[in-house]
Amino acid sequence: MTLPPAWALLGVLLALFVYFGYSVQKRWQLRKIPGPLGWPFLGSIPEFSLHGYEYVLSLAAKYGSVHVAWLGVEPLIVMCDPALIKKYAYKCVSKPESMSDFGHVLTGFNYDVDKASAFVASGDVWRRGRRVFEASVINGVSLASHLPAINRCANRFVARLAQRAAAPAARPAPGKAGATNGGDSDGGRTLGEEGFDMFSIVGGYTMAVTGEVAYGVNFGTADDDIATARNSSILEGGGGSSGSGMSIGRQLVGASLASFRCLQMEHSTLYLPLAVMFPAARPLVRWLASRFPDRAQREHMAARTQIAQVSRLLMERWAASKKAAAAAAAAAAGGGKTVDGAKGGDKGGGIAVAVNATAGNGAAVAPASSAPGGAAGGAGKASDGVIKEVGGGISSSSFMAAMMEGRRGASQEERLSDTEVIAQSFTFVMAGFETTALTLSLVTFLLATHPEAAARLTAEVDALGDGELTHEVLAEELPYTEAVIKEALRLYPPIPYFIREAREDLDLGGGRVAPRGSYLTMYVYAVHMNPDVWPHPEAFLPQRFLPEGAAALGPADPGAWAPFGIGARMCVGHKLAMMMAKTLLVRMYQRFTVALHPKQPLPLKMKTGLSRIPVDGVWVTLTERKK
Ligand code: HEM
Repeated sequence: MTLPPAWALLGVLLALFVYFGYSVQKRWQLRKIPGPLGWPFLGSIPEFSLHGYEYVLSLAAKYGSVHVAWLGVEPLIVMCDPALIKKYAYKCVSKPESMSDFGHVLTGFNYDVDKASAFVASGDVWRRGRRVFEASVINGVSLASHLPAINRCANRFVARLAQRAAAPAARPAPGKAGATNGGDSDGGRTLGEEGFDMFSIVGGYTMAVTGEVAYGVNFGTADDDIATARNSSILEGGGGSSGSGMSIGRQLVGASLASFRCLQMEHSTLYLPLAVMFPAARPLVRWLASRFPDRAQREHMAARTQIAQVSRLLMERWAASKKAAAAAAAAAAGGGKTVDGAKGGDKGGGIAVAVNATAGNGAAVAPASSAPGGAAGGAGKASDGVIKEVGGGISSSSFMAAMMEGRRGASQEERLSDTEVIAQSFTFVMAGFETTALTLSLVTFLLATHPEAAARLTAEVDALGDGELTHEVLAEELPYTEAVIKEALRLYPPIPYFIREAREDLDLGGGRVAPRGSYLTMYVYAVHMNPDVWPHPEAFLPQRFLPEGAAALGPADPGAWAPFGIGARMCVGHKLAMMMAKTLLVRMYQRFTVALHPKQPLPLKMKTGLSRIPVDGVWVTLTERKK
């Protein structure tokens, strides 16, 4: 019996649909590793979008500590076993080439910058990038040199928080609308009583620190900049687009938040699912996205371009000030004549600069000299902002200065290209700003819901007094505060997994093999939540990290705590992040009592994106403590 041609054609189409939609060849290769079937071409994306990181926990419960999940047609080998994670996190140093393609669709210069980022790159580009990070934020001396900036930003942020705090003694008399009882009033409202979302504003502090440490300048970010920028579009000026007259810091905040937002599934470009489902068509998808960008794509590209422009601007400022200093030195040596511009900028005052987000097509970042008056910006409207230099120039202890200085006299292969300098500055902002803000807001939440822990932390920070917080004080005199931060990072790791590529076949035990080229997802969150590893994993118990509780409540293996990753690619900013977090907590809890506001829905709900963030924020009220 022969089939009619129409049925035969249908049969062939169906076979092709199944073959490609379910990646039959790859599934055969991975047949010994269990996992869900998923949807054709989509894999487990729908479930992941609906249930977030908890979905992966449910897969671990069902299929075991090594399983395969499908991101579109690409298999992810998910490891939740602490010993295996440790073994291969050390052994595998490379990241998969296509890693970024699952998060966004980047085009043009923004694509090049992404590929050069220390977070994403492998090989020499990663090594060069990683080295400058290590010199600037791992090295003890460099790290200590960032502390004055961190102290300054913490003090400034806490002073602003005081404006939101309710006064300790008097409460408004019932029926007296608008009474402020000492708390600052904003148009007749009592700020302390209304509460505020800590998650929305604490980025004002982390971005201010990032500005000083990464770029060596004062971006002048304020807490309410974040609240305004968090949910507004950069394309309409809300997040800090051109023409708005906002400070550069505020524009940068808007741009960084927009960049993060585009990584949340519900805000991503429509080109992303296409790129995920049809990997072979990615060059075409990128081309389409650059020619016919949808709104999300335009917003994302504009945001990234804006951040890159700030880096470009500061690179040029740095180069100009070096040139001017050299000319001044030469002039002084030649008879003490002064040279125009030899001071390297208008010290202490602030430099007017223009930064502009392009239409979002990923166009190259224009050199600073192309904008009127030698300022950066490129084509189109430019918005003026003010960057205040700290200490009369781009701070020489900054990451930017370290990168620029390191290029001088370096051999060709060790020299960071312009794109790499921009990429590493971008990475600094993106990797450091939101992760640390998230950690701080979750610590606040946990302390507000665990008054005994808050009391113990308060006693510890009170013992320090008001003096400048030195490196030694932060390292040695805050064991409980450190334990609280570590426990918050265990319960809510901002990045719940880290990624590696298998550069050879890897033995996963039990006859299972991760073939060469596999995409390995090391799922730290599952380890943190594993009752065989951490007793009472759901409970907030900071004493796990102290000698008094380590034996009963800590993990058998200290490697089971890994919110910063493990091995050669472990987060390079972990020491800086801890310094930033401790400094702010000391200053905040020395001054305020923090309580959860009734607006805060409980239990806390987290949502999925590149990082896990609280869906409804973290609503608190502050009360000035009587001293
Ligand atoms: C609480 C705050 C932070 C958390 C939870 C965090 C977490 C992480 C994680 C999980 C990784 C991947 C590690 C791996 O693959 O093994 C990572 C990488 C990285 N982080 Fe952080 N991070 C934080 C703060 C920072 C800060 C402040 C910076 C700024 C310097 C930073 C810069 C980086 C960089 C450059 C990498 C890539 C390292 C590499 O691949 O060699 N992070 N971070």
